[in-house]
Amino acid sequence: MISPSNHGGVAGTAESENAPRADALGRLIAPLARVGPRSFPPGFVWGVATAAPQIEGGAWEGGKGPSIWDTFCRLPGKVHNGDTLDVACDHYHRFEDDFTLMAALGVKNYRMSIAWPRIFPSGRGPRNQQGIDFYNRLIDAAQARGITPWVTMFHWDLPQRLENEGGWRTRAVVDAFAVYADTIVLAYGDRVKNWISLNEISCFTEQAYGGDEKAPGVRESQAVVNQTYHHALLCHGHGVRAVREHGGRGARVGLSDNAAVMIPVSETPADIAAARAGFVAENARVIDAIYRGRYHPDYLARAGADAPVHTEKDFELISLPADFLGLNIYTGRFVRANAAGNPETVPFTENYPRADSPWLWLAPRALYWGTRHVHEIYGEKSVFITENGAGYNETPAADGEVLDLNRVEYARSCLQELDRAIVDGVPVHGYFLWSFMDNFEWQDGYNRRFGIVHVDFVSQKRTPKLSARWFSQVITEHRLV
Ligand code: NOJ
Repeated sequence: MISPSNHGGVAGTAESENAPRADALGRLIAPLARVGPRSFPPGFVWGVATAAPQIEGGAWEGGKGPSIWDTFCRLPGKVHNGDTLDVACDHYHRFEDDFTLMAALGVKNYRMSIAWPRIFPSGRGPRNQQGIDFYNRLIDAAQARGITPWVTMFHWDLPQRLENEGGWRTRAVVDAFAVYADTIVLAYGDRVKNWISLNEISCFTEQAYGGDEKAPGVRESQAVVNQTYHHALLCHGHGVRAVREHGGRGARVGLSDNAAVMIPVSETPADIAAARAGFVAENARVIDAIYRGRYHPDYLARAGADAPVHTEKDFELISLPADFLGLNIYTGRFVRANAAGNPETVPFTENYPRADSPWLWLAPRALYWGTRHVHEIYGEKSVFITENGAGYNETPAADGEVLDLNRVEYARSCLQELDRAIVDGVPVHGYFLWSFMDNFEWQDGYNRRFGIVHVDFVSQKRTPKLSARWFSQVITEHRLV
């Protein structure tokens, strides 16, 4: 347990804060006895996140090969408005200025990703030196401004050539990933000490091969979908292995998972137990498999003949101990115990609040229960929120300002729940807000904005929103403001 004494307390200079102040009309305001919000623990990491395909643009430059998203966004009707990744935020050409802005906001940790097809245009085979050099310049530019990179190896942009050869359906993708992971850890490991193997496995397996939401957008059988998950788990294992073998001193690695988070409707023993059981069952294909080093018997029984082909040896790689678990938590599912004590989903009512992203039901308690479950059930000792935020359709005011109160309030509520988890002894060590700037939101194109910095996609002008100023203050003061 983290004792409240080494974590709590009021930050700032208590004396000056308690001195009488005058309001705008000159009336004296009685000093407030400040009780919280409390500081976050020392060393707690604050950061912002992005991903290469969503911000870089330069999709056909620097020797980069096409990714499955470059192909997918050209298929009629797949991406809102036919938007492409060709230019995105033009970060490929503007990263210096972007890092200058990031630093000005006080951001010291930045989660980014490397585009596999920039390093290996065909997924395997000859390396693209221009791609290697690009990330060398980019990492150096971040570090020169005091920004520590947290690098995701794979954020959905599979080289198209690998997809042509079967993509995540085939085991060959695992061998290609192993070489890619070795290559980037060897290339950047002298400067990059924080690695994330894969981002949100279910989004590039289930949603991509079991539905048409994400690239490549094909409907395969359940057996194939289960196999894509298994291949992804093996790649995660290779990510961990590559960092162990080549990462050098102080290197750490973990997965970023979009775990299905179960929130007990009432925090009573029965509903809490139901939520816990629901968490294990709903996360059987990723979290449970990685931590337990096997597939859960209930999952195998449910899958029957559709269970993935796997060996015990596979699990030696899959369950290599990582250094932390990253959770991308935006929402959760409310559950309660039914008459038999089993988990039962309580559906969202029609008018339950959500962001403009229709899947993003606003459920801050997910931050508490998601982090608590991975600690309580699997004994995880280091949890990072590698993404949290909210997507809205925003139009700046005439003067360009974006007063995104909704984003501020949601992130703030989520952080309050994270704080509650920390007080209850859950080892949460950092929080990355998604996203640094508005970007390509996959099938929603540029129509959903998650940034704390507004991007005008015509002029490429960046304008910090209200949320950027708020988060900047949170970072500086190391507490909720
Ligand atoms: C999850 C993904 O990792 C990221 O790419 C996406 O933009 C955000 N969530 C918002 O949907």
